[in-house]
Amino acid sequence: MEFRDWAVHLLSADRLEDKLFCPDVLTDFCPGPAVFWKEPTRPAGMGFEKHTRRDKLPRVNEMNNPDKRAVCLHRFAGHELLAVEIMAYALLAFPDAPPHFRKGIVHTLKEEQEHVRRYQKRLAEMGVQFGDLPLYRHFWAYVPHLTTPLRYISTLSLTFEMANLDFAPFYGAIFAENGDMLSSELMEGIFDDEIKHVSFGCRWLKNFKHPTDTNWKTWRESLPPLLQPIRAKGPEFYADHRRLAGIDEEWIAHLKNHL
Ligand SMILES: [Fe+2]
Ligand SMILES: [Fe+2]
Repeated sequence: MEFRDWAVHLLSADRLEDKLFCPDVLTDFCPGPAVFWKEPTRPAGMGFEKHTRRDKLPRVNEMNNPDKRAVCLHRFAGHELLAVEIMAYALLAFPDAPPHFRKGIVHTLKEEQEHVRRYQKRLAEMGVQFGDLPLYRHFWAYVPHLTTPLRYISTLSLTFEMANLDFAPFYGAIFAENGDMLSSELMEGIFDDEIKHVSFGCRWLKNFKHPTDTNWKTWRESLPPLLQPIRAKGPEFYADHRRLAGIDEEWIAHLKNHL
């Protein structure tokens, strides 16, 4: 199956199993003309709901309650599904990007599908079906801005996935403190993959940027106007996790001081 056809399949799927479909053989002979997909089709009951203040994530001191932990896991699963869809969007939007870049997106997309499956499994163990709780537009709100590969990696890999270098270990530790080792191990696995995903973004930012610009400047100027650098951080700031992904010291220092 061609990357392009697979991407269309994922974005127009109305069953979760189709969102998670991956053919054995994927090829990229005909990337085709650029298509900027407007909105993903969603399975019944899994559409984007309006996010209100009431829908904030449960507080850390409520994490001894398994139902509250499940609310968090459900939210994270929603982020993974969005990552699948935004990566499919990128395959359609950037047919002229370097073949290695496109292959890297495909590889990452498969891992995001696997992340959805892992959350789905853990939620089921906790008595919740993925889709039982509301899902939101979140990252998709920035998709209209993702008109170049550089803007795409700056927003997805180097903001939202970078923030997960803080969020995943933060919640992993909280779940462990509350005796939920299965959820904690799940977060550990996600974290390991996220380092690779951020590192993919970092390598390509260096590749795409103007040679005299710094990585920080390039990233900062490639973000959507309404997306603040603070979105690349979680509740705790782990500089070392960013170093593992290849983020340089100047970038880390700027980010650390950014409120
Ligand atoms: Fe993921
Ligand atoms: Fe990721």
